[in-house]
Amino acid sequence: MKLMDMYLHLQSDLNYVESLLEQEVRSRQKDLENAASHLLKAGGKRIRPVFVLLSGKLGHYDVEKLARVAVALELIHMATLVHDDVIDDAATRRGIPTVRSEWGNRMAMYTGDFIFARALMLLSELPNVQIHQLLSKAIVRMCEGEIEQIRDFYRLNQTFRHYLRRIERKTAILIEVSCRLGGLVAQADPRYVRALGRYGHFLGMAFQIVDDILDFTSTREKLGKPVGADLLQGNITLPVLYALHCSPAGQALKQMIRPHMPPSEAEQAIQLVKESGGIEYAKKVAELYLSKCLRELSALPQGQTRDSLEAIAVFTTSRDY
Ligand code: IPE
Ligand code: IPE
Ligand code: MG
Ligand code: MG
Repeated sequence: MKLMDMYLHLQSDLNYVESLLEQEVRSRQKDLENAASHLLKAGGKRIRPVFVLLSGKLGHYDVEKLARVAVALELIHMATLVHDDVIDDAATRRGIPTVRSEWGNRMAMYTGDFIFARALMLLSELPNVQIHQLLSKAIVRMCEGEIEQIRDFYRLNQTFRHYLRRIERKTAILIEVSCRLGGLVAQADPRYVRALGRYGHFLGMAFQIVDDILDFTSTREKLGKPVGADLLQGNITLPVLYALHCSPAGQALKQMIRPHMPPSEAEQAIQLVKESGGIEYAKKVAELYLSKCLRELSALPQGQTRDSLEAIAVFTTSRDY
């Protein structure tokens, strides 16, 4: 099943979200508008807006309010992608050149800030202080996660716990918040909001682990972004940690992974990780998070919303893009 088919009943509301997104990246400064809409038009999975809308279905569903929050969440995500591509020196994203490769790093920093500020403007229309507190905390955590990632580049003695803490911050928390905010805005039963938050948290963990696996196993065509880049950059992800600490290839890998690795050695290191059992191990951990995530759904009422949340979670771990 394709991701879209899992929430067909939201299609018209998602179209509305899309039109608001287009509106929100407009600016009288045309370079900013062009750079921001460049990334927007390239698509993306839009899972964060989907989570806001779906979670809203568990309360009083007000599409005007929920669509605004959904747009804000996608904008925050997009802003982090524009900045992430600067940090990662990435050339392609969503199948097209990154903002940084088309307009340069300086423009990319301000494009990210601009998109981010547009998200805050939209949210400022909402009176609920809790929403602002939740989101601002999440953004602080994301920044911490991205900084920890930079600090931990090439740190071969880092533990599994370091990795999990980092991906929790850089990815899981924003997905958790997308799920919680939908419920909060719709004034859903607080028990539902808590379960939605935990669902999003565990799903987010699985989502990033799978993203890290796909960096080894997928292709540029499927992902729309370069593969094999994490290791080259010194980003020690779960498959690598397993290979380093739990496989006979560990010693050899420790000698190889270093800044400015020659491309042939990087290729060899990637191959060693693939043969180490690290990919299979990471898949198991992602599945563990999936099962934790699915367990949370039992607190929610049975029906279309719960079915969609379940299908998306299963997709997360089995996706190949
Ligand atoms: C990419 O997120 C960054 C991660 C958190 C892994 P997505 O995989 O949701 O990116 P798009 O929005 O579909 O491009
Ligand atoms: C996720 O990390 C990026 C953010 C949470 C901002 P990655 O660096 O793995 O994302 P991709 O692989 O570039 O999409
Ligand atoms: Mg990246
Ligand atoms: Mg990645």
